Amino acid sequence: MEKANLDWTNLEFSYIKTDYHLEYYFKDGKWSEAQIKKSDKIELHMAATALHYGQQCFEGLKAFERADGKISIFRVNENAKRMKRSAKKIKMEPFPEDKFIEAVFKVVQLNRRFIPPYGSGASLYVRPLLLGTSGIVGVKPSYEYLFLIFVTPVGPYFKGGLKPIRLLVEEEIDRAAPLGVGDVKVGGNYAAGMRATIKAKSLGYNEVLYLDAKHKKYIDESGPANFFGITKDNKYVTPASSSILPSITNKSLRVIAEKELGMTVEQRPVDVQEIFDFEEAGCCGTAAVITPVKSITYRDREVVYLKDEDVGPTCKKLYDTLTGIQLGTVEDKYSWNFEVPMD
Ligand code: PLP
Ligand code: COI
Repeated sequence: MEKANLDWTNLEFSYIKTDYHLEYYFKDGKWSEAQIKKSDKIELHMAATALHYGQQCFEGLKAFERADGKISIFRVNENAKRMKRSAKKIKMEPFPEDKFIEAVFKVVQLNRRFIPPYGSGASLYVRPLLLGTSGIVGVKPSYEYLFLIFVTPVGPYFKGGLKPIRLLVEEEIDRAAPLGVGDVKVGGNYAAGMRATIKAKSLGYNEVLYLDAKHKKYIDESGPANFFGITKDNKYVTPASSSILPSITNKSLRVIAEKELGMTVEQRPVDVQEIFDFEEAGCCGTAAVITPVKSITYRDREVVYLKDEDVGPTCKKLYDTLTGIQLGTVEDKYSWNFEVPMD
């Protein structure tokens, strides 16, 4: 099938309409089969719990055209599991994991002409979304749900790809509370962070680095991605926190760091003062991949990790291994790629 006529090497991380999305409905205690939709509009009850009380959660994953021409999705089983956990935490009906994987395959197959070609640096971003749809004005869980899934071809989240970003440690705005919902992928967390990101951008930074809301002492994560630091003695250090999203990219990088690069991995509370001792730092996530950190500003001090170069040696090795596995140029020893049948 002929590819869509897009400027593949210059795609941004933004919405482009594709051919189809899928919808599944939960009604009378069971999930429907997929309905294939062409329009990118949905109809919702104006009192839907998703709209008023934030009863919604979502996922983000990527499909890649590999060097051998096959199409694969990175760790889709992990996203299926995390979405179930998100749904349960805010009392929504979880979408079954096996159906989630089927839905991802099907929506990619249906929109195959939008899968960016190997070598373009772009990928097909898959966005599953679960919404409480019952029109209830009282604050209680919906009894009906809509699971929908769409795709959109994307380039790098931070403009320029493997281009370093400047982070600002945010002390006046919290993204999430320690016993709240920061560890699940619900829309409210992103709304809570928008004013911090806008503030950081207005001051010339690319993103925020949040501290834990209780002690204001430990690093949590960045707006759309987890954080890691590389120490001078070659350790991969990343925060353990109850208020950050357990990133699948970070989970993969911890394995790559330990097993492929022979590094020591520490997942533990990371005191913000440690930024001044790191050799390198990065943000990681599906959209962010690995985005090298150029500098971090905390109060009146700035630590600079990268001067003229775009990426440090360890971040580069992590990036090359991760993206090599995703694109089929590095052996997928850990069976992270799920091949999508395309006949
Ligand atoms: N943290 C936040 C707040 C995110 O939105 C994301 C993106 O999904 C991540 C971390 C990275 O998670 P993952 O690597 O699973 O995409
Ligand atoms: C992702 O990386 O998939 C995300 O959902 C981050 C999002 C804020 C773009």
